[in-house]
Amino acid sequence: MKVDVLLGLQWGDEGKGKVVDVLTPKYDVITRFQGGPNAGHTLEFNNIKHVLHNIPSGIFHTTKMNIIGNGVVLDPISFKQEVDELEAKGMDLSQNLLISKKAHLILPTHRILDAASEASKGKTKIGSTLKGIGPTYMDKTGRNGLRVGDIINNFEAKYEELKKKHEQLLSMYDFEYNIEDFEKGLKEGIECLKKFKLIDSEHKINEYIKNGQTVLAEGAQGTLLDIDFGSYPFVTSSNTICAGACTGMGVAPNKIGEVFGIFKAYCTRVGSGPFPTELEDATGEELREAGHEFGATTGRPRRCGWLDLVALKYSVMINGVTQLIMTKGDVLSSFETIKVATSYIIDGVETTEFPYELPDKIEVGYTELPGWKADLTGMKSEDEFPEELKNYITYLEKELEVPITIVSVGPDRDQTIVRS
Ligand code: GDP
Ligand code: IMO
Ligand code: MG
Repeated sequence: MKVDVLLGLQWGDEGKGKVVDVLTPKYDVITRFQGGPNAGHTLEFNNIKHVLHNIPSGIFHTTKMNIIGNGVVLDPISFKQEVDELEAKGMDLSQNLLISKKAHLILPTHRILDAASEASKGKTKIGSTLKGIGPTYMDKTGRNGLRVGDIINNFEAKYEELKKKHEQLLSMYDFEYNIEDFEKGLKEGIECLKKFKLIDSEHKINEYIKNGQTVLAEGAQGTLLDIDFGSYPFVTSSNTICAGACTGMGVAPNKIGEVFGIFKAYCTRVGSGPFPTELEDATGEELREAGHEFGATTGRPRRCGWLDLVALKYSVMINGVTQLIMTKGDVLSSFETIKVATSYIIDGVETTEFPYELPDKIEVGYTELPGWKADLTGMKSEDEFPEELKNYITYLEKELEVPITIVSVGPDRDQTIVRS
């Protein structure tokens, strides 16, 4: 069997958690392959909302296996909080959650370094979630990091040694901190991690594939936040794209099957950085209110704008998307007209190619389509879709040259329509 991958095509928060939960019954194993607690993946069923940060979104299907892969960065403190919350809901994770020994650990001093780095940047800050993601991946590539496998022997001594290096780095910043505040819960977090099966997940995942079991890899963040192809430097520190699933799990490229690319029917972004179709007006506000666009991890208001086909085509190309999933079309139901960006005009020259660098303010060429002015949230089949929505979908499929196979019309598991 092959590994299917589901990943975000925009700046994150496309609805990955919801759709992974919906697709989980079709799979035996769900994995995370990059990112860490900067992710906030929301799932809703039985009128209850759950937000996951470190744990794959297959976890609520108790017969399925969930794996935190080697490409993930794991914070023991935030991980324990998440485990505690799920256990308080009556769940027992010990049987269906495995963790790669090669996943790198986010340490308290990584979070301090993240905060110090952001504070030093002032107005040019990235808008990091301050979860320590950047400094942890820096230690990974700098070959200083500690991995989950390091907690088994002498963890404290290893931590103290790395902490000294981090304190030296921190002394270069004009940044005050109380290390004890950041270290609270570390010991308990490490003990919590020890209760789980810590494995060489690349062997396990390849064994699943060989035995004919099905695996779905769940991306975090989105393609436009990718460290190589996103709007650098306003990106995260991992490869969020399909290729990241190979390195983040130890799966060969020829073992990748379907690539599900998920996008909102409009666009959002949290944190700083260019956003060509951003609406800094009443329309943007309307989108934010209707879409409840506030961060699942930080609570920050998300910046909102029209769908950007220039960026979306780029994401489809970089990931080799084979099926598209569109979410939140229901949020656009009050709009008479819906705009879609089809080109950028940079220095007077029109382009449809996502450029090396996006200027802060950019002229955008739009195509306008009629809105559907109908409540989609109760619809159960695409036959019920208004003509205008059908046209919107057909238009996007033609432009992107990939079929839209799933349309999500609300946050609940049940509000998901699979197209024939
Ligand atoms: P993720 O990071 O990609 O998993 O997405 P988030 O959970 O951060 O943000 C998506 C938000 O939209 C969550 O609040 C979801 O409950 C919600 N959501 C997902 N799909 C839909 C949809 O089709 N319609 C509406 N109205 N909300 C949705
Ligand atoms: P999910 O998986 C949206 C953004 C941050 C910031 C930049 C760098 O829920 O889609 P980092 O903490 O990674 O150093 O922040 O990336 N960011 C996200 N935006 N959704 C996410 O995850 C994000 N994870 C990071 O806001 O701009
Ligand atoms: Mg999110």
